[in-house]
Amino acid sequence: MKVLILNGPNLNLLGIREPEIYGTETLDAIRIWLNEQAITDSHVITWFQSNHEGDIIDQIHGSIKLFDGIIINPGALTHYSYSVRDAISSVPTPTVEVHLSDINHREDFRRISVIKDVCISQISGLGKLGYAQALKTLVEHL
Ligand code: DQA
Repeated sequence: MKVLILNGPNLNLLGIREPEIYGTETLDAIRIWLNEQAITDSHVITWFQSNHEGDIIDQIHGSIKLFDGIIINPGALTHYSYSVRDAISSVPTPTVEVHLSDINHREDFRRISVIKDVCISQISGLGKLGYAQALKTLVEHL
């Protein structure tokens, strides 16, 4: 399986960004950790991070025919980006939503995910394990 892992705004600052919420590992450390997990054997995984909504949308569009699935942590775009939602529902690529923190038990605005119902699953609050869980969910789905 070819999987695209998309990370949205501010996730490039993992490691220094609110470590009490997001932990002390960088996004690159999470990428390396995931690569070492047995679940990734026999899958080709491509990571992408951007602070720009349009770049995330372009990546979702570009997934057609190139990727079997998408794992997306859209950061705060989760809570208001109808453009990201429309991009996900515009492509046939099955998509799993991931959040490091438990968005359902934080501020009220984080409880709303405008992409949740166009994704096959939402995984929230498992830290980096969420990315491995999302991959498992995609494998089971396909
Ligand atoms: C996040 C949760 C979002 O509410 C926040 O804006 C992020 C990270 C998470 O992984 O927990 O940037 O998506």
